[in-house]
Amino acid sequence: LPGDWRHGVDADAIESKLREDPQHQIKAVGVVHNETSTGVASNVAALRKAMDRSGHPALLMVDTISSLASIDYRHDDWGVDVGIGGSQKGLMLPPGLGFNAISEKALAASKSARMPRSYWDWQAMLANNKNGLFPYTPATNLLYGLRESLAMLHEEGLDNVLRRHRRHGEATRAAVRAWRLEVLCLNPAEYSSSSTSVVLPPGQNADELRKLILEQFNMSLGNGLGRLAGKVFRIGHLGDFNDLMLAGTLSGIEMGLELAGVPHHKGGVQAALDSLAEAAKGAHADAAQVHG
Ligand SMILES: Cc1ncc(COP(=O)(O)O)c(C=O)c1O
Repeated sequence: LPGDWRHGVDADAIESKLREDPQHQIKAVGVVHNETSTGVASNVAALRKAMDRSGHPALLMVDTISSLASIDYRHDDWGVDVGIGGSQKGLMLPPGLGFNAISEKALAASKSARMPRSYWDWQAMLANNKNGLFPYTPATNLLYGLRESLAMLHEEGLDNVLRRHRRHGEATRAAVRAWRLEVLCLNPAEYSSSSTSVVLPPGQNADELRKLILEQFNMSLGNGLGRLAGKVFRIGHLGDFNDLMLAGTLSGIEMGLELAGVPHHKGGVQAALDSLAEAAKGAHADAAQVHG
């Protein structure tokens, strides 16, 4: 279903589409929880409700690659059938591991599906996993890394990890607003806590800005894809990331905007620091209340 790339998934449109399919030819609804290139996080729970209202049996498949361990994702509570995760973002590892979380319904569908598969077959994976094994050569070093990632996430506490990402998203948007640039995502309820896509004023080339920042400060920013190429750049704020890293990132961008001659207002970094300080005060007050 086409969208404008500035809003999340339209649950009502999907409900209508499913209602128009009484023969149940549609087998699955695929959705990206956090759309990394645009910085838009869709409401998966609302989508599940819309699918349920339609009475259609399609599976719900969700790409959680840039939301897992960064933005709240509830596989079971939201009735997701297939969740897809990767090692390279919130799990703080190099790319190379992929994960599926699957429902009973998805498992049953995989047994009756006629699509040929071998390496990607869940049956071999499930049978081996029962005994702690992997049916092929395992990426052992990544699995050791994963054990450490999970320990780090538990040490900080998942709620704190998610809160930290929200804080960094808010502070980043405060900087963007202070620069008088535009956040690509138009719906505040769908702002991404893991990445922010920023629209440059008309006539400005985001790729030239990215190139300059890479050359001057050795900082690589994500690009706009497809129809957004050259129009937006992305600020990633997920995974092993802290306040100082965010401050450094935003400083590099503010200096880059100046050097590239992109029309903007100063004070983005300060606005982000103020936002972080405000959030820290709030957290401190909450902690005092709990301990008091
Ligand atoms: C939402 C999302 N899906 C998928 C991927 C990975 O896709 P691929 O393995 O095809 O590069 C990414 C990037 O790592 C992503 O951000």
